[in-house]
Amino acid sequence: MSAFKPAAWPRKLRSQHWFGGTSRDTIYHRGWLKNQGHPHDLFDGRPVIGILNTWSDLTPCNGHLRELAEKVKAGVWEAGGFPVEIPVFSASENTFRPTAMMFRNLAALAVEEAMRGQPIDGAVLLVGCDKTTPSLVMAAASTDLPSIVVTGGPMLNGYFRGERVGSGTHLWKFSEAVKAGEMTQEEFLEAEASMSRSSGTCNTMGTASTMASMVEALGMALSGNAAIPAVDSRRKVMAQLSGRRIVQMVKDDLKPSDIMTKKAFENAIRVNGAIGGSTNAVVHLLAMAGRVGIDLSLDDWDRLGRDIPTVVNLMPSGEYLMEEFFYAGGLPVVIKMLGEAGKLHKDALTVSGGPIWDEVKDVRNWNDDVIRPVERALTQQGGIVVLRGNLAPKGCVLKPSAASPHLMKHRGRAVVFEDIDDYKAKINDESLDIDESCVMVMKNCGPRGYPGMAEVGNMGLPPKVLRKGITDMVRISDARMSGTAYGTVLLHTSPEAARGGPLAIVKNGDFIEIDVDARRVHLDISDEEMQRRLADWRPSVEPPASGYARLFHDHVEGADTGADFDFLKGCRGAPVGRDSH
Ligand code: FES
Repeated sequence: MSAFKPAAWPRKLRSQHWFGGTSRDTIYHRGWLKNQGHPHDLFDGRPVIGILNTWSDLTPCNGHLRELAEKVKAGVWEAGGFPVEIPVFSASENTFRPTAMMFRNLAALAVEEAMRGQPIDGAVLLVGCDKTTPSLVMAAASTDLPSIVVTGGPMLNGYFRGERVGSGTHLWKFSEAVKAGEMTQEEFLEAEASMSRSSGTCNTMGTASTMASMVEALGMALSGNAAIPAVDSRRKVMAQLSGRRIVQMVKDDLKPSDIMTKKAFENAIRVNGAIGGSTNAVVHLLAMAGRVGIDLSLDDWDRLGRDIPTVVNLMPSGEYLMEEFFYAGGLPVVIKMLGEAGKLHKDALTVSGGPIWDEVKDVRNWNDDVIRPVERALTQQGGIVVLRGNLAPKGCVLKPSAASPHLMKHRGRAVVFEDIDDYKAKINDESLDIDESCVMVMKNCGPRGYPGMAEVGNMGLPPKVLRKGITDMVRISDARMSGTAYGTVLLHTSPEAARGGPLAIVKNGDFIEIDVDARRVHLDISDEEMQRRLADWRPSVEPPASGYARLFHDHVEGADTGADFDFLKGCRGAPVGRDSH
């Protein structure tokens, strides 16, 4: 089924431009590395494998990756390669300010150059926390060096007073409960320690688990990689097997551009619908596709996700956590279900060197409450939907599996927050003129506005609404939302307010209509009024004077195309370049 033809082996690899021969330059490169105690025969033309490690003490979700790197190295040695571990930029979701998303492109840029500028023939991408996965895949795509992803795996289940506690999901739930007077601050503090009880990434189907699933669905990781818990011994086995596999991928010259095809992206989008994956996957897959020159758009998300039921019963859409997903069989079961339903390009190539169908066709579902049959799906309309209209000419996205069915068609009075600070200043004010029928609007939280497009789109509800027992309202912004969050939240509104998109001119008291079935979002003012307000609009966000923030401001694109830098799109390959001496 697969058209991939392995390259002839042996042949001269790019690392030999540094290490091969007897010239002065070669002796220089080889000699310095020998201070690490490497025998001479390691430089004989075998594949040099860079293990690009996003470990950091301040990226706790990736805190165990040095241990996994040792297992990758073991696999590379076993297969006859030469492993070299390379620490790379690590953007943690939970510590980086103003938001890790502002540094996804910086990490991608740094890692791309780390790959291109150094003597490696292939790479193992050791990732985990949300942005670390797309940033390294984007880098690998732009160099097109053979690459395989190993994610760190999710944390074990959290429990608080006998109940499952999902990373992020329960942070939002508990904080709303405190605001509603249903939980004390002391109880909230007690619950804190239950949320992250082992190494690993968020244990919900949040962005980290979603992106791990996306790279597996794209074919960029070995089958089964996404769900193995971080502390399960099989995670180490996965790392070691991936180390072995990358050596053969280099010999075969199996590159990201062979794997990350349009078919692969279409598979990933459908898988995202089936798992109830994060809306963040939209911007990341669009950006990854841009690096390999694949024409992927928001319309592909809507078209491909339209008829995909969400069958994975995980928080935030469902009940369980990644640990149970693994015990049920993990992502291969879901991919097989899509294949049996005719919703999978079975011939899409993976890092295995063969078609994706070969990896999943014999797996079994061991728990049909965790991975539901289609007739008991969480929702029949699982994919991300894309709404357009005069309020979002370039689109906005909504995750139906995390939204309230009764709000899918709604008209409400706008309550406007000019930015996140304005929201924080007003939301707890009992005199705020708002009730559950209103539409909460937040501006200036897009890629340029925040800056970085923070995960603040799931604005918490006002206390006086929460006290009525109401847990959802329609919310619209140009921000993102954590993959662990939920609600009827329209996100990524494009063009964003800070670029003068129509979101910027919404006023308190305007009426907004959303109709998810019709894929429509409408600001109920006349065209003339819209044009008059747009003509009067002036930017409220000043460009930073200098530094990375200025580079970001000037070059980040809109969310509708993946929020990559305009000058980083595309594949530049990995030419060996000039010697430095
Ligand atoms: Fe790092 Fe969720 S915050 S994986």
